[in-house]
Amino acid sequence: MKIDVMVAGEEHLRFVSQINDSIDEAAKQRGTGIARRTDEYIADKINSGKAIIAVNRDEFVGFCYIESWGHDEFVANSGLIVRPQYRGMGVAKRIKQAAFDLSRKRFPNAKLFGLTTGEAVMRINTDLGYEPVTFAKLTDDEQFWQGCQSCVNYDVLQRTNMTKCLCTGMIYDPVKVAKKKAMEEAAAAEAKKKSGSFWSRLFGK
Ligand SMILES: CC(C)(COP(=O)(O)OP(=O)(O)OC[C@H]1O[C@@H](n2cnc3c(N)ncnc32)[C@H](O)[C@@H]1OP(=O)(O)O)[C@@H](O)C(=O)NCCC(=O)NCCS
Repeated sequence: MKIDVMVAGEEHLRFVSQINDSIDEAAKQRGTGIARRTDEYIADKINSGKAIIAVNRDEFVGFCYIESWGHDEFVANSGLIVRPQYRGMGVAKRIKQAAFDLSRKRFPNAKLFGLTTGEAVMRINTDLGYEPVTFAKLTDDEQFWQGCQSCVNYDVLQRTNMTKCLCTGMIYDPVKVAKKKAMEEAAAAEAKKKSGSFWSRLFGK
């Protein structure tokens, strides 16, 4: 088996209905916060270079797409699916990493976010630097939230006035991450300086 993960191209358009069928299968389980899209929507994502696909030679393995919202202020990674027979092998992790890299390249200033009910995705997102947040911190672009209408849990979102659902919202804020990194580097440099002066005091150098 050789699973390749890449930005999807024209040659992958033949997998569109299979991708949607796989999403549909997963979406039937109430606990899964994944919404079906039209075949045209998935094809458009592929044609615009905003989709990641995993294939095992000629076989479809997994998929995910990115979409920008609120005038490119936010980018969502959505529609993550791995076919059941390929689960538990690290494929979702590779797809999410590729979607993360693509999002950062195409929208370097955007906050990346996702909605998920799954522990697997929460773990992957945490490793990528995402943090859980309330829905108020996510995009208020109505079109994004309209996308939840085809989710089996939509009634829950409506009942809570669009503030909560079964999904957890997670966000990667590049400004916050850069600040945190700078502070950690400054703290490490300070600690190094202190330990250097300790040894020079001890040995009189
Ligand atoms: C969720 C899904 C994409 C995970 O795909 P996968 O290829 O099996 O995931 P990976 O093998 O890359 O696992 C990633 C991590 O999650 C963990 N994990 C995988 N499945 C898990 C599960 N069912 N419960 C808890 N943890 C799980 C793995 O151990 C791994 O953690 P680690 O890095 O700490 O070892 C897949 O199960 C799926 O397609 N589900 C249906 C659709 C869905 O729920 N999509 C997500 C919508 S947000």
